[in-house]
Amino acid sequence: MPAVRFFGLTTRGLEFAAAREMTAIRGAVVTATAYRRVSGSISGSPARLLNLRTADDIYLDVTTWHETGSQRSALAAFTEQARHLELNAAVEIIRAFRQIGDPIVFSVTASFVGKRNYSADDIKQAVAAGVEAAYDWTYTPDDREADLNLRLFIDHETAHIGLRLARRALHERSYKTAQIAGSLKPSAAAALVMLAELAPGARLLDPFCGAGTILAEAAALGYQALGGDITPEALSAARENAPSVPLVRWDARWLPLPSHTADAVVSNLPWGRQVKVDQALAELYAQSLAEIRRVLKPGGAAVLLTSAPDLLSGDGLILVSQFEISLFGQKPTVTVLRA
Ligand SMILES: C[S@@+](CC[C@H](N)C(=O)[O-])C[C@H]1O[C@@H](n2cnc3c(N)ncnc32)[C@H](O)[C@@H]1O
Repeated sequence: MPAVRFFGLTTRGLEFAAAREMTAIRGAVVTATAYRRVSGSISGSPARLLNLRTADDIYLDVTTWHETGSQRSALAAFTEQARHLELNAAVEIIRAFRQIGDPIVFSVTASFVGKRNYSADDIKQAVAAGVEAAYDWTYTPDDREADLNLRLFIDHETAHIGLRLARRALHERSYKTAQIAGSLKPSAAAALVMLAELAPGARLLDPFCGAGTILAEAAALGYQALGGDITPEALSAARENAPSVPLVRWDARWLPLPSHTADAVVSNLPWGRQVKVDQALAELYAQSLAEIRRVLKPGGAAVLLTSAPDLLSGDGLILVSQFEISLFGQKPTVTVLRA
């Protein structure tokens, strides 16, 4: 099979993690990393891309439209360009590894960066009309009813058009049935786990496990995960989402764990916004960080997500990297430390 082009979409700030994961796939080459997007090509079946854990979603790259325009008059151009989309070859590539109904029922997803006088819904309608005019396909606004999803990712004036490889978005995990406030997107959780750069079978701890997303991703990646939380609600959600992971009700300021036993601590800390904390955040962070340092093996990694990174002054922990991402409509920071 000749190489086919693809692009993945990610959380802003975690593009490099998806690029790294893609590069490790046999036959895959990353050609561009941009805002929320990683593009590449793969020789052999693109079905191998469906195992990606850090990408929110992955698409066959159909085409790129330039100078999309920000006024409502651009919508007619979207319809016209959609009428000329060459989609059959991409559909056959996808049909080689999964069922697609006949006639095809399709949905459209659109998002954009940059100001416009029209909405994402306007773009969907315009593009759906063009595709329906050119193909014997039926549009549905409900993605759950669709065999295929046509994606428009518009970065200022450039629209990247793709057909989703999987029936459902890649970041939707079947294990994640329980939610709590502040719960991470699984693809972002997987990226945090990968930042710890662990050896196979390593021991990973999440002391503020919430609904257990980091633990579930760590277990899926083959690590020995262990977690806990202070609230019974969080623990019961984590039990549902990560049933194979040992869980303990604890206060992360006093972990009932022996010293120097964890290869990594990966955690989405309470930020004091969505999740209520019962003492000043600074004090909670200082005490918890001392415990994290104590339980980490020498050289072990701590990967911590918080909107208050300035409070993370960990004596005895070396700062490796710190960078902002976009999540929950906020801009929290990922901090990577080493014991
Ligand atoms: C941001 S949430 C974690 C979300 C989790 N990563 C997920 O994806 O669901 C923070 C969690 O810290 C817990 N927490 C707050 N204070 C704690 C403490 N002192 N010890 C342990 N857990 C605590 C909260 O109950 C909450 O579940």
